[in-house]
Amino acid sequence: MKKFIIAITALGLLGGAVAHAKTNPAKDLKDVRAYFFKKFPGVPLQEYANGIYGVNAGRRVEWESTMEFPPSEPGVDAGKALYNKYKGAFAKCFGNGAGKGMRQNYPKYDAKTGDIVTFEGAINSCLKKNGQKPLGWKKGKLAAMSAYMASTSNGKAINVKVPNNKKALAWYERGKKHFYAKRGQLNLSCANCHIGSAGGQIRGNILSPALGQVSHFPVYRKKWESGGKGVMGGFGTLHRRYGGCNKQVRAKPFKAQSDEYKALEYFHTYMSNGIKVNAPGVRQ
Ligand code: HEC
Repeated sequence: MKKFIIAITALGLLGGAVAHAKTNPAKDLKDVRAYFFKKFPGVPLQEYANGIYGVNAGRRVEWESTMEFPPSEPGVDAGKALYNKYKGAFAKCFGNGAGKGMRQNYPKYDAKTGDIVTFEGAINSCLKKNGQKPLGWKKGKLAAMSAYMASTSNGKAINVKVPNNKKALAWYERGKKHFYAKRGQLNLSCANCHIGSAGGQIRGNILSPALGQVSHFPVYRKKWESGGKGVMGGFGTLHRRYGGCNKQVRAKPFKAQSDEYKALEYFHTYMSNGIKVNAPGVRQ
């Protein structure tokens, strides 16, 4: 009897997979939200912007006291000074707002090139276009400046668009595949840790829900402060974090701004549509 039930369940899952084979971002988003709302009853959507602190009352207390004087502030100020240095270029590339109040719309599908443009990607290509040296992708100056610029979007709901065309949907599907694919020596997917085990513990860490994970990037981490680069040293971009999580399962990380991570960011951020930006987050 038991075997029979397992067989039926497996069939059911397969059937489900077939039924979902057609890419449907809006449905994915609905399903992911419904899953978390059931898993963490009473946690409102916006709380997911706070990672583990939104779902774990014990850790939240510590974090709230940290946030009375956020350790990220001096670095955000330095990021702002840097932003002011490049503001003229940004006004040319980003138009009105010069890159301020725009973070919620990234990553974007660019219909002209068929490419995905991340926020950091847009910043660096703007610098290049204006004869400036592009900045390193993962930390330091770019991360701090991007954190300041993201903070000017705080309170604006994430609004990533996946237009209904083949190329955009293929980017989305590639990112989704990365998210659900098991990898590394530990053979674990992003979803295993941040969907199936969200709220659970791994080596003394609580696992954050995938929903809302992107709202507060670039993030400031105590762990990263020791990496040098002064007050800007604690910041890291989302792709820095992706690399860290790939390494946790002993998989080889992809390069920051590689197509693989751009696709992942596209899917991952789309899942958090509707959640308001609250950058930079402060994490351990
Ligand atoms: C073995 C479990 C594990 C896997 C697999 C894993 N992560 Fe993580 N991840 C963690 C832990 C632990 C943390 C730190 C605690 C937290 O915030 O969840 C973390 C943190 C994060 C954060 C920061 C959350 C925040 O609030 O700032 C992001 C984003 C993230 N992971 C994305 C991913 C993505 C994308 C993948 C797949 C490429 C992935 N993770 C795979 C364990 C994992």
